[in-house]
Amino acid sequence: MATSRDPESMPFFLRTSIGFYLLATALGLVLRIFFVAPFGHLVFANALHAHSHTLYFGWGALGIFALAFRRLGAEGRASKAVLGAIAAIAAATFVSFLLSGYSPPSIAISSLSLGVWGWAAATIWRRSRGSTDLDVSFLRAGIVYLVLASLGALTRVALIALQAPTFYKSLAVFAFLHDFAWFFVLSVVGLLIERARAHGLHLDERLLRWQLRLSVPLAWLTFPLGVAGGANGLLGTIASVAAIALVVPAGLGATALWRAGASAPRGGLGAAFRWLAIWLALEAVLSAAGGLGLAGLAVHSRHLAILYLHVLLLGFVTLGLMVSTLSVLGGPLSAGSWLHNGGLSIMALGLAAAGLPAFGLELAPLVPRLGLIVAAFGGAVVIAGGIAWSVGAWRSAAKGEERASLALHGPL
Ligand code: HEM
Repeated sequence: MATSRDPESMPFFLRTSIGFYLLATALGLVLRIFFVAPFGHLVFANALHAHSHTLYFGWGALGIFALAFRRLGAEGRASKAVLGAIAAIAAATFVSFLLSGYSPPSIAISSLSLGVWGWAAATIWRRSRGSTDLDVSFLRAGIVYLVLASLGALTRVALIALQAPTFYKSLAVFAFLHDFAWFFVLSVVGLLIERARAHGLHLDERLLRWQLRLSVPLAWLTFPLGVAGGANGLLGTIASVAAIALVVPAGLGATALWRAGASAPRGGLGAAFRWLAIWLALEAVLSAAGGLGLAGLAVHSRHLAILYLHVLLLGFVTLGLMVSTLSVLGGPLSAGSWLHNGGLSIMALGLAAAGLPAFGLELAPLVPRLGLIVAAFGGAVVIAGGIAWSVGAWRSAAKGEERASLALHGPL
């Protein structure tokens, strides 16, 4: 059965993933500022793809695989080669997308990920065989969603070759993006369970087991809601019902995380777990609102879609991954956590204001513009949080304070 490993494993790849996070979110801030004051020398679409791909590859995937390998004791040369390849592909995609956008070289480089992640996924699957631990079950469920995401990507290639209508190609894109995001969510919950245990937090694993049982069969069904017209017909009805039903497992997971936070000693860890509960619950509420008929608004107002996406990816996924990473590397959570969560709250309010015109409200043009300024300010505060976290992690490393768990070295 898989066991937790010593504290020295994987710090290089974890620090590298934080580096990618800082680099790509800084580019995200540049994009946010671009909405307020467009400037020359930036091809928006290129920077957008560099931002999203680098965060998916260099931050999400690299951080999750490094922590999952560490958890499962897969720290040999082959695992390090996979992580090195993921880091190299992330760096190459950043440069290639920024300079040449969705060009053949960028597509070729990012397609390499499918092979490397397949290798990483097989490692996790093999290493976790026979384990009934809840955190490992979440990691395995994450791998199932990674495979579904890859099928979405391959389906898109097939539909392009068959010259299928745009609607079906968009469905395939969203199947890919959506399942990929759920690979992040399920894996991050698994990593948090392992870290919460290491820190001696009280986790209601019964609630989390139900969260897993209910969300795995439902989550993949909601992807059509991201596509214009996807909420119509039988597919749309199934997607809407699933989006509404997903509130239940998200509520169970959020309750478990909130209570775990309440059981933590004073310090950043307890607050971080409660924020995680808030972002998980908010994501489910926004998704259910989509199922109740508001998905069309998010499809038409880019700002509302981006609001939802960042509650999920910056709120739950990034905070959860950063908590797990810093718990392994050492370094304080508190200051970075307040800046991150405060900044994201401001950014979300700004994006909501910028998206108000989609509701058909009569508004002075100043309101959405003010919303975009507020969103840019919120983004800057989020980045200050990322800097505070990384400075703490670097200082901790310099002092030689890498520890596996709070049990060994006091509050985060
Ligand atoms: C301070 C943090 C961040 C800022 C300021 C930021 C900003 C932005 C901006 C301005 C856009 C484009 C909006 C538009 O086109 O209307 C965007 C899109 C996006 N961002 Fe972020 N972002 C941040 C963090 C993240 C993180 C952590 C992730 C993923 C882990 C992420 C993933 C994405 C994705 C997937 C898109 C959509 C890409 C597309 O439509 O092709 N962002 N972000």
